[in-house]
Amino acid sequence: MPVITNIDDLKRIYKRRVPRMFYDYAESGSWTEQTFRENTSDFDQIRLRQRVAVDMTGRSTAGQMIGQDVAMPVALAPVGLTGMQDADGEIKAARAAEEFGVPFTLSTMSICSIEDVAEHTTKPFWFQVYTLNDDDFMRRLFDRARAAGCSAIVVTVDLQLMGQRHKDIKNGLSAPPKLTPKSIANMMTKVSWGLGMLGTKRRFFGNIVGHAKGVDDPTSLTTWTANAFDQSLDWARIAKFKELWGGKMIIKGILDAEDARMAVKVGADAIIVSNHGGRQLDGALSSIRALTPVLDAVGGDIEVHLDSGIRSGQDVLKALAMGATGTYIGRAFVYGLGAMGQKGVSTALDVIHKELDLTMALCGERDVANLGRHNLLIPKDFEGVWQE
Ligand code: FNR
Repeated sequence: MPVITNIDDLKRIYKRRVPRMFYDYAESGSWTEQTFRENTSDFDQIRLRQRVAVDMTGRSTAGQMIGQDVAMPVALAPVGLTGMQDADGEIKAARAAEEFGVPFTLSTMSICSIEDVAEHTTKPFWFQVYTLNDDDFMRRLFDRARAAGCSAIVVTVDLQLMGQRHKDIKNGLSAPPKLTPKSIANMMTKVSWGLGMLGTKRRFFGNIVGHAKGVDDPTSLTTWTANAFDQSLDWARIAKFKELWGGKMIIKGILDAEDARMAVKVGADAIIVSNHGGRQLDGALSSIRALTPVLDAVGGDIEVHLDSGIRSGQDVLKALAMGATGTYIGRAFVYGLGAMGQKGVSTALDVIHKELDLTMALCGERDVANLGRHNLLIPKDFEGVWQE
């Protein structure tokens, strides 16, 4: 067994173990992938201020996200098709998150259903909803999430239509996947992945098939997904979701100060500064660059979280020190899951926790709550100076 010391180690194993089409699905951004690349490279531009001869004993990474205790402010982001990266992937990831003490967010487009994940875990998880046309289906999704004990919904607002990832089209990655001779040949080489998949019944979108009107079997999914997303979405409809749900609501996919203010107005409890991991508008700013203007716009009224580009505890620390209350990892946990199932997700969380703790100590801090801009060296023009 190779020695795993960082997230990249997991990614290397993941790449070998999982069929190419699912690796490409996770490891791509839209179009030129500029935003996807800058999500990580912009973190590198921020440097850390080393402090010495400061008492480093009794450190804590614990905190709260939307009033819920977390062992570290790092939640698992909603990732569609997680159950294709490893058999029963959502259940495994949720269990690893629960064991570690961080929130797990289940995607609408998950393989394991809300009920299935609830049945196989003991703590409440968060449920991510896509904004779909079918009001009735949305209402039932909220009811199902409530019945499953979900403690928050995450409403994703940056996907009224889907960004284009070239590789997914070429690989036939759709819902359900179109199998080409090439992808079948590739899958046959992924033995342990394949055995896992043969051993589970969970291979289709568990929240959709048998629940959405006209989707009684996996083949009708393609038509459904093509028309499902609400292109006419507006803030009034998002406000209605808050009413319908009645509990904590996190709005995911904010990059702009004006949108952040609208999210506060419609009653969000938190927003996630996110560009969907570089999968939607290619050419948009990286999340870490977009964070400060959003924080200024929100002015402490609600929590501001961040995802997109986090691959280490240092990245988490930078986001928190910039002012985010919490962070999310998407690909970083998928690499772990694809590499070695539940244990891999636990390893990803351990790696990030260790890095966060050590970095915090070497910055002269003992508690994540005390992190601030004083810990960072941020380039003067980091947010960019753009024309009016
Ligand atoms: C996603 N993301 C996502 N977001 C969402 O709200 N619903 C979803 O179903 C998905 N599906 C999905 C699939 C895959 C393969 C990826 C990589 C991402 C976006 C996700 O929640 C998160 O915003 C990004 O993953 C964050 O970027 P990093 O951490 O992957 O760089």
